[in-house]
Amino acid sequence: MTRIAYLDGRFLPIATPAVAVEDRGLQFAHGVYEVIKAIGGRLVDLERHLDRLERSLAEAAIPMPTSRAVLALLLEECLRRNRLRDAVVYLQIDRGVAERNHVCPESVEPTLFITVRPLRLPAQEEYEQGVAVITLPDERWARCDIKSVSLLPNVLARSRAAALGAREAWLVDAGGVVTEGSASNAWIVDAAGVLRTHPLGPRILGGVTRSVVLELAHAQGIPVAERAFTLAEAAAAREAFLTSTTSLVLPVTRIDGRPIGDGRPGPVTRSLARAYAAHIGFKSAAEE
Ligand code: PDD
Repeated sequence: MTRIAYLDGRFLPIATPAVAVEDRGLQFAHGVYEVIKAIGGRLVDLERHLDRLERSLAEAAIPMPTSRAVLALLLEECLRRNRLRDAVVYLQIDRGVAERNHVCPESVEPTLFITVRPLRLPAQEEYEQGVAVITLPDERWARCDIKSVSLLPNVLARSRAAALGAREAWLVDAGGVVTEGSASNAWIVDAAGVLRTHPLGPRILGGVTRSVVLELAHAQGIPVAERAFTLAEAAAAREAFLTSTTSLVLPVTRIDGRPIGDGRPGPVTRSLARAYAAHIGFKSAAEE
């Protein structure tokens, strides 16, 4: 079936050449995006995604092109037209089409487009055995809290990881601190048994999955601290995992080729993976 995309008021076959050459998203990466999953036709944590979208838009000086309610309807209509119930929805809003100039005339309308594809989670085996990550220097800019389409460092890092047979690249700053993954948030259960992830701020993207998993951890009484950890602490951790909309809670059992803990997904990770699967109404992937 041909996939259908939405672009500025029209539903089009996805291969239709439709974005203008002078779109500021193309020329300046002047745009923001969201990746939202649908399970059983329901958009998971939609309000949290729309909250983050509005924040990214404000920080990137892009007007919201329509109301939240209309956006939600458009997302649902895209799912319907693509006959998908378990899906990944990609939504991008950029500053719009104008003669190339760093300064954008105020009258320019933003561009909005939406694409949908089937949800392809990591393999069952990866949830059961854990995945490998490599570490790379964090070479990104100082506003990683904005979900900007300017993703060149992330693309290069993730591609390097893939070339080396790893699932993700964890990014390490000049002080040896693990900030986050190229497309996911990074977590450890440290040597003292405390669940840790980098605090919110300009160095990381505030993941929607991250915010849910923090709540689940609190609800389970797991000792948790939004406190950054170093690569050395990660190497000495009992457990590690990553979170993202499209990976859920994914155990990390090797960092730079060295096993974490006993080299298998640990109890805190498995418990949070189960709780998150229940939160999204999903039964198979994260279940043992
Ligand atoms: N990536 N950090 C970065 C740099 C990310 O790109 C993402 C998400 C996350 C996790 O955020 P969330 O839990 O809201 O998905 C953290 C998406 C999935 C992507 O770019 O494809």
